[in-house]
Amino acid sequence: MSVVIGLDLGTSGLKGVALDENGRKVAEARASYPLATPRPGWTEQDPADWAKALREVLRGLKANIGNEEVLAVGLSGQMHGAVFLDAEGHPLLPAPLWNDQRTEAEARWIEEVIPRPELVQRTGNRAVTGFQLPKILWLKHHYPGIFQKVYKVLLPKDYLGYLLTGAYATEPSDASGVGALNIRRGIWDGDLLKALGLTVDLFPEVRPSAAVVGGLAPSWAAETGLKAGTPVVAGAGDNAAAALGLGVSRYRPGVGTVSLGTSGVIFLPLEEAKPDPEGRVHLFCHADGAYHLLGVTLSAAGSLAWLEKLFPEAPLSALLREAEAAPLGALGLYYLPFLAGERSPYMEPRLRGAFLGLSLVHGRGHLVRAVLEGVALSLGVVYRVMEGLARAERFLATGGGSASDLWLALVGAGVYRDLGEALRATALPEREGPEPEEGIAGLLPGYEAWVNQLLTAYRGRG
Ligand code: XUL
Repeated sequence: MSVVIGLDLGTSGLKGVALDENGRKVAEARASYPLATPRPGWTEQDPADWAKALREVLRGLKANIGNEEVLAVGLSGQMHGAVFLDAEGHPLLPAPLWNDQRTEAEARWIEEVIPRPELVQRTGNRAVTGFQLPKILWLKHHYPGIFQKVYKVLLPKDYLGYLLTGAYATEPSDASGVGALNIRRGIWDGDLLKALGLTVDLFPEVRPSAAVVGGLAPSWAAETGLKAGTPVVAGAGDNAAAALGLGVSRYRPGVGTVSLGTSGVIFLPLEEAKPDPEGRVHLFCHADGAYHLLGVTLSAAGSLAWLEKLFPEAPLSALLREAEAAPLGALGLYYLPFLAGERSPYMEPRLRGAFLGLSLVHGRGHLVRAVLEGVALSLGVVYRVMEGLARAERFLATGGGSASDLWLALVGAGVYRDLGEALRATALPEREGPEPEEGIAGLLPGYEAWVNQLLTAYRGRG
């Protein structure tokens, strides 16, 4: 028997699996690493911690698969982060991550140089604070001395590929989340970079997602027990990889995914590179050679995890039961899930979360219910932007949050508002999801009215 290894460089840890030729899991290993928030709005990880986790996970997998032949190692991971490497391939500073918000000024400046409509046409996206491109400009503007030493900037999973093989390479699904890839041509946009005072040679070569970027370096073979020269495959950003894992691609048009992880994500495959002209949702390359839309609400299960910490006396299961007992609409209570600012569709890092409509009648169960509903409504708003761009007949649900039937039912009803009863979320391709909760779409106008007031207030602060 031979196996392939898949690695996923997540935000809380590195997961590795070994699969046999039929796709059955034969081994699994994990290692975690810390997330630093040295200043409000900043999120960073140390690439040295990723390297340590990589060693641990590969050793753990090797111990479990014994002498089975490893045909290849494939990469996936958190998107948008920036690993700044010097000419010797050493990281020059901690890597700012996908949810880091320090680059508001740089994102604004990008659109002063390249007006939004042109930027969206070229890259599929407006300037987004979390993307890699504004992070590079941030370093250039704030630490020119360090910037001068930068030889290459890699995305997180591509740094793992570099460690394992010595090759500087990326692939379209992750590269299109940098903010500087010409989305239709699949190559770095030299004119755009020049206008921003950057050069193409800062970036790695873009290879197809299924390409072998190199063979396992002898030093890594010696440390992990794997064979030197084992092919390492470019892979895909975490959302594209997860979608492919569920069979969501150009070959199954109309089927998307809804993921309830720390962030909530709606993913819809697209045959053509058709962006939202205002860039309210992302257009990225898929790993199958076509494209996909992606809408991200930054605090989905993250909102629930935050709330859970406020009630240490009650287990999550009890909180969810109380939410189920509370009525739809939580007696007029709205939760706006902007604990970390918001991506889609507002793209506003200054926004903050809120409970609105509190009264003496509200108890714990109402708060939990409002959080579940608020996240569902937030995804509903994202979906409304997407439905004008891509056909969606069915969604598959993934992520930890999809274990809650109530939450799935709320999300299902919010997202499928206009698609009718026939459309059902499924927790796994084989399992039918719960019936959508009637009536949640009726809460959308109230929710949006609160969001608009909040947007005006935060934007008004300048
Ligand atoms: C997608 C995004 C997140 C990260 C999380 O645009 O920022 O889904 O990829 O890992």
